[in-house]
Amino acid sequence: MTLQPLSRRLTGVAYYPEHWPESRWAEDARLLADAGLSVVRMMEFAWDRLEPREGEYQFAWMDKAIETFAAVGIKTILCTPTATPPPWFTHAHPETLRVEPSTGVRDVPGSRRSMSPFAEAYLAASDRIVTAIAAHWGNNPNVIGWQIDNEFGCHGTTHDASPAARAAFQTWCKTKYGTLEALNAAWGTQFWSATYTDWAEIPVPLPTSAAHNPGLLLDFRRFSTDGWTAFQKRQIDILRHYSGPDRFITHNLMLKFMEIDYRILAADLDFVSYDNYLHGMSGPMEAAFNLDLMRGLKGGRPFWVMEQQAGPVNWTPFNPPVPPSQVQVWTHQAFGHGAEAVVYFRERAVNIGQEQYHSGLMKHDGTPDRGWHEAKAVAADLGKHPFLKRVKAPIALIYDYQDNWVLEQDRHNAEFSYYAEALDIYRQLWEANIPVDIVARDADLSGYAAAFVPSPALIHPDHVANWRRYVEGGGKLVVYFRAHFKNPGNTWTDQPMPAGGLSDLLGVTVDEFISIPPVPTVGIRPPNEPSVDWDDERGAHVHDIAAKTQGMGFSEGFGVAPKVRYRLWAEVLKPTTAEPIMRYADGYYKDGVAATVNKVGAGAAYYIGCWGEPIIPRSVWQALDLQTFSLTEKDAPRGQTIEMIRMEDAAGNPVTVRLNHTKRLVTVIAQAETAPS
Ligand code: GAL
Repeated sequence: MTLQPLSRRLTGVAYYPEHWPESRWAEDARLLADAGLSVVRMMEFAWDRLEPREGEYQFAWMDKAIETFAAVGIKTILCTPTATPPPWFTHAHPETLRVEPSTGVRDVPGSRRSMSPFAEAYLAASDRIVTAIAAHWGNNPNVIGWQIDNEFGCHGTTHDASPAARAAFQTWCKTKYGTLEALNAAWGTQFWSATYTDWAEIPVPLPTSAAHNPGLLLDFRRFSTDGWTAFQKRQIDILRHYSGPDRFITHNLMLKFMEIDYRILAADLDFVSYDNYLHGMSGPMEAAFNLDLMRGLKGGRPFWVMEQQAGPVNWTPFNPPVPPSQVQVWTHQAFGHGAEAVVYFRERAVNIGQEQYHSGLMKHDGTPDRGWHEAKAVAADLGKHPFLKRVKAPIALIYDYQDNWVLEQDRHNAEFSYYAEALDIYRQLWEANIPVDIVARDADLSGYAAAFVPSPALIHPDHVANWRRYVEGGGKLVVYFRAHFKNPGNTWTDQPMPAGGLSDLLGVTVDEFISIPPVPTVGIRPPNEPSVDWDDERGAHVHDIAAKTQGMGFSEGFGVAPKVRYRLWAEVLKPTTAEPIMRYADGYYKDGVAATVNKVGAGAAYYIGCWGEPIIPRSVWQALDLQTFSLTEKDAPRGQTIEMIRMEDAAGNPVTVRLNHTKRLVTVIAQAETAPS
């Protein structure tokens, strides 16, 4: 069954009945209901209270907590508590604790997220507690849905190098490759004499003096994603079996988190939820990017914010305050980017345990804190304004977790980052208030005026076929450097780059790629001894040919082309059918082609060979007519960061939401605007 999106916006909060005396629950429920909240999320770390000794379940206290909230009209989301098995379990089964691959050290009990998803005893214990919970609450009328576990991979725990993981990895390799010949060929194991003759010889990436084989490293990441996805699926199957089909099943994903391929993890969930901590990001632009990334994980389906920062956190270096109105703006930003519910973290600052400095809606003393007042203000806003839905954006940005892994594993330039590259493209669009959908590599791009593809490192001929259809049909595709040069096993293509048919679509090949180190790189040269070295020959600028000053001629030799800086990466291109649109302005490859456009069918395919400032060149911006998609008004106030979001009301009329991130005031324009003709 496909769960329908909600037809109203909800707010809620994480509640921890196990942290407070039962005598306090009713007062908390009253206060939280007074703040307009309609859901609580409970139980994700409560295994020790639910099963104090093996097989001895105590659920009555949680029944009572659920009833206490139901009595004030608040529904419950229950979590499976598998992020924190109790000490009686880990003491009896120390082999279930994960081993950190970068050190080889096994976790000790006492914290959270210490478990291996490959350890048999842990899987069995997880099955048992999840079954007991699902059978008990599966049809409770006050339980509306399930959150599985909590933040897989948090605290750098995605990967496990325990003996159980190693055995599972060997089985995974066997299933994937079938024969050792196929695995050896895919990974290129004849390099450094690593040809495997038995599956049992295959290691997991524990510390070695030099680097591991890149194919092994990439597959180990895929294996880890599959491990958590399978762990999650095991729980989903149990929950589905015992609970009504109208109960949703989700998992809470993290910001800026790239260790798990979230597209794969999301596939089995009804919708994704996301933990929105703004103090973990650089500001509202990066927050918007992460929210859009979440919305894109299930093809634009609305998601939930399952933890919303509601005051200062305890885990950044300085933990600054959260000034008045900030939480309100953050919440509306999440709604504007497609959240259908925002659940704050947490109900009250706690006076026990590891997170005592973390704020909550209430203070340590149980009285309302600023977060509570802001949550209440948000609930009031929602009551005043019409229900709004996010609409499809005009621009698509492709984001791929595995391209990120390939480039992160071997950056070749210490400062190169796929995430930063995608964010840089997004930033330019966000600053112009151009709405963006972040989509999968294989997404149907029809309907998008333009699609940006940051460094698609892995070769996928089927994706190229999809992009070709899009361009032939009139689409504008913009592909960036480091494209299609890696086979699935992380070996380099023996074809001209970009391989897999992409060079045909783009009408260009890469003649040379250059990592641009930061200046200076060559040390100090005595002033009287001029010598030619890389620093003399380094390039730093490109001419944006097509963006030359208007009216100064039509061929490359005329006019004043803007000279812009680039950094980190440069490729010297050899056009086949494409036209140059940028040329290097300096360096030993001066006049070499830096970017091209290829007309294909009714559309155009661009290849951008260097990381320019800005990353979307001026000429491309103009050729794609991007300004026409900008929501920014002519009289927009200067010096303020106003984010504008295009939504629609229930009748389908366009509505513009303005968020003032500078002054942290929210203006929701309530009247529907006339639909553009
Ligand atoms: C989240 C986590 C919560 C809590 C919170 C503190 O990552 O899911 O349990 O630790 O951070 O900000």
